[in-house]
Order: sequence, then structure tokens, then C-alpha cells
Amino acid sequence: MTPPSAAPIHPATAAAIAEAGRLLAEGHLVAFPTETVYGLGADSTSDRAVAAVFAAKGRPSFNPLIVHVADPADAERLVVVDARARALMARFWPGALTLVLPRRADSPVSLLVSAGLDSVAVRLPDHEVARALIRAAGRPVAAPSANRSGAVSPTTAAHVAQSLGDRVAMILDGGPCRVGVESTVLDLCHERPAILRPGGIPMEALADALGEPPLTSGHGGDAPRSPGMLESHYAPGLAVRLCACSPRPGEALLAFGAAPADATLNLSPSGDLEEAAANLFAMLRALDRPEFTGIAVMSIPDRGLGRAINDRLRRAAAPRSSATREAS
Ligand code: TXA
Ligand code: MG
Repeated sequence: MTPPSAAPIHPATAAAIAEAGRLLAEGHLVAFPTETVYGLGADSTSDRAVAAVFAAKGRPSFNPLIVHVADPADAERLVVVDARARALMARFWPGALTLVLPRRADSPVSLLVSAGLDSVAVRLPDHEVARALIRAAGRPVAAPSANRSGAVSPTTAAHVAQSLGDRVAMILDGGPCRVGVESTVLDLCHERPAILRPGGIPMEALADALGEPPLTSGHGGDAPRSPGMLESHYAPGLAVRLCACSPRPGEALLAFGAAPADATLNLSPSGDLEEAAANLFAMLRALDRPEFTGIAVMSIPDRGLGRAINDRLRRAAAPRSSATREAS
């Protein structure tokens, strides 16, 4: 199933991080762990390095990248940070919250990162290896999830090696990702904050911090859509069927909570949404095998991290015509 790869996986020792930082500064691509998913890192200030990210992923150039920083002060050099953004950074950084903010006129970030928009998405990951790498590189690091465009995101170094092993200079191995779904993307470029992608920081926590519920685009709402959030994404090779109670002949059953005896894998036998998020991508990959005809998934409560899980599952189950194929 998994082709052997020449992927240079290195345990994230201090020496490996220093070497990876040097490679990034020289314009090479380095995959690295974050608390959400593994990222495919590049020097965000280099047009060539950023272009190499789009090429390695097969990602459409209209889909912008997130820039990762090691300190909130570093974000202030890239984007215009107002009091509202600063308060969210203080509360949720380091963590799984990406803030879309107006690009500073003197921002050193490559215009390719923004894909033609006048904003830049910034995030400070809650993972010591990621922060040490950004510091070692000495520059903000652009990083999409380290998967081929449209495919399931990687939550281990081995996942990265399977899809991009021959495209990166180094893969830093920091073990499995703790959160397991990508960051929440919050657009702060307008008066009303808008969630462009549900993720590791639940909407309820953001509403509490903002004093008002953010707009959401996920359910036909009125928020602007993130350019990358087209329908099909996070898709394994097999068809995915949602809200299943039991498997049809040939299907694998991905269960949640108390499950029928014929469940193949269980995202969380105790019904814990955090555990389910952490298991989601690895279990979709594990079930993506020729002995099954499809993957049936039981329903997941649509609250807290369940919103991010359901968003990813809806996209994994979406029709896969090339016109709707997603992008990150
Ligand atoms: O957890 C994460 O966010 C991971 C880790 C590696 O940090 N990264 C990640 O990146 O998921 P990616 O490229 O797979 O997804 C970035 C999302 C896309 O939906 C993209 O469209 C959106 O963020 N985005 C980036 N910059 C934006 C901008 N300026 N305006 C609106 N959306 C933006
Ligand atoms: Mg992605």
C-alpha cells in the first residue's frame, strides 16, 4: 500500500532542528510537527521557496498559505495587529488559531503567500519543535499541511513521507500531533470576525473571547469563504459515507462512542471529541485499503471540536470532480 520512500525522517533533536533551520534559510522545504497537523515549511520571505511549496503539494496558486511565527511580536512585523487581534493572540497563542489580518505595506512576506489577497494568515503553533525550528530559520515560515493537495492531512512523520517524502529536504519527527485537525482560521479584516475554517479552537471559545459569535461560512452563512475551502478535500481514496449506523457489505465502519460489534475502528469509544479529532486523519488513512469498498462513518455531535471533525468529514465525502477538488 505504502510505497517505500527515500524520505529523510529525523527525530527532532536540537541538532536536527538546527540543520532544518539552515535548510529553510537556504530555500529548501522542511516538514515539521505542529500540535494540529504536520506542516510543509518554507521561507515565507522567498518567492522561490514559496513557489516550491505550491509545486510540491500540487496546490492551486489561488489558495493562500499560513505564515508561522515563534513570537507574537514577530507577527506585528508582517500584518497590522489591532487591539482585537492582540487580545485573541494573548488568549489563544500559542495554539490552533490562525488570524487573517491586513498585510503591512512593508511586510517581508512573499506576495505569493497571500495568493493575490491583501491579507496574510498568521499562527503561533503550540509545539516546541515548530517554534524552535522557526527561531533556527530566523524568519517566518509559510506552511500548509504537508499532504498532496486535496488529500488527507498528515498527523505523523510517516504520513508525510508517504506523500511528500521525495519532495522535501528533511522531515522532522516530533511524534503524533496532539490536536489532529488543522487550526481554526478566523478572518479579522472586517468589522465582524468570521470563521473561514473550523478547527482546533472551538467556535464557542472564540465567541466567548470576542463577546459575540463570529460569522461562519460552513453552513451557507454569510461570511466570506476562505479561498482554499472548496468542497472536496481531506479525501481518502475510498468513498466516504456519513451518518452511518452500520456498514454496508464491503464497507469499513469508523465508529464514534458506543458502537455496533462490526465497527472496524473507533474514533473514541468513550465519545470524547478531542480524542476523536486526534484520531480522525490517521484512522481515515488506516481504513483506506483495497479490501474495503468504502468508509462509513457514524455521526459526530456538531459542537466543540465536533464542528471541525464534521467539516473535514463532509469534505472527505463530497463529490470529487476536478472542478470542486480542493486545494490545501
Ligand atoms: O493547523 C494548521 O493550520 C496547519 C498547520 C501546518 O499549521 N496548516 C494548514 O495550512 O492547515 P493549509 O494551507 O492546509 O490551510 C490554510 C487555510 C486554507 O484554507 C487557506 O485558504 C486559508 O487557510 N488561508 C490562508 N491565508 C489566507 C488568507 N490570507 N485569507 C483567507 N484564508 C486564508
Ligand atoms: Mg491543508
